[in-house]
Amino acid sequence: MDKVVVTRQVPDKFIKQLETIAQVEVWNEAFTPMPREQFLNAIKDATACFITLTETIDEEAINAAPHLKVIANMAVGYDNIDVQLANDHKIVVTNTPDVLTETTAELGLSLMLSVARRIVEAERYVQDGQWQSWSPYLLAGKDLYRSKVGIFGMGDIGKAFAKRLKGFEANIMYHNRSRNEEAEEALGALYVSFDTLLKHSDFIICTVPLTAETENKFDSEAFAKMKNDAIFINIGRGAVVDESALVSALVNNQILACGLDVLREEPIQMDHPLLGMKNAVVVPHIGSASVVTRNKMIQLCVDNIKLVLNGNTAKTAVKA
Ligand code: GLV
Repeated sequence: MDKVVVTRQVPDKFIKQLETIAQVEVWNEAFTPMPREQFLNAIKDATACFITLTETIDEEAINAAPHLKVIANMAVGYDNIDVQLANDHKIVVTNTPDVLTETTAELGLSLMLSVARRIVEAERYVQDGQWQSWSPYLLAGKDLYRSKVGIFGMGDIGKAFAKRLKGFEANIMYHNRSRNEEAEEALGALYVSFDTLLKHSDFIICTVPLTAETENKFDSEAFAKMKNDAIFINIGRGAVVDESALVSALVNNQILACGLDVLREEPIQMDHPLLGMKNAVVVPHIGSASVVTRNKMIQLCVDNIKLVLNGNTAKTAVKA
């Protein structure tokens, strides 16, 4: 009989669907990852696993799971999985694209506006009892309206973000591995070099996945090229940014502020210098976190597992 390991608590209605075709072992914790040893033990006789970004599928995990046929990752990004190795072992790897695109773009926009209008700082100001009177420049921020916005990564999320920017009459630039002429036409976005994007954007948003090519792309050189009043937003992956370079750029007023949904190390350590900074807004990797979208992501993982275990093609398999 097939066995599915589910590494996080998900609503019963999803587990029940898996139970129609397999024995299911669930790590029934909502906020704590399944301990690595327990995971490695659980997948020994598993034919499928439903994982989140907190599980790493490396050589050790693949070797521990000789019967595995499918790994369903509850995320669009899959840098936590050695896909090449999995595919070499004839294991199908799936992700959750499309269903989270609009929700993640909305989080990007929320972060951008929060940072630009200093919403978090303003809320703390009120909570701390500092609000004495109206004042001409009290917590004055920066307009997104008619600004120049540089999008690094014009995939589905980049495009969904650009669509929203049209309402702000923003001038949209983008940089991507390859040009996306369709997006240029539909969104009025201008393809520019990475350098031009850095130098001319009032706002820069990073939406790219983590690859060998994108790791540390935003380093001290990149921040030095940005405008001194630029706002940097990252909804891609933390390791695309050299965080000490980002901290220096904020401290030295090379850029104005940042908003981050993703960090190199998640959860962030409480003594991380970014946490003490007024001009850095950090949220805990909640890009796709609306209830409707999270339900769709879970359902897609379940569908993919059922399809593969029933001998069919997954809906959203990824290739190395
Ligand atoms: C979240 O970061 C995802 O990749 O879905």
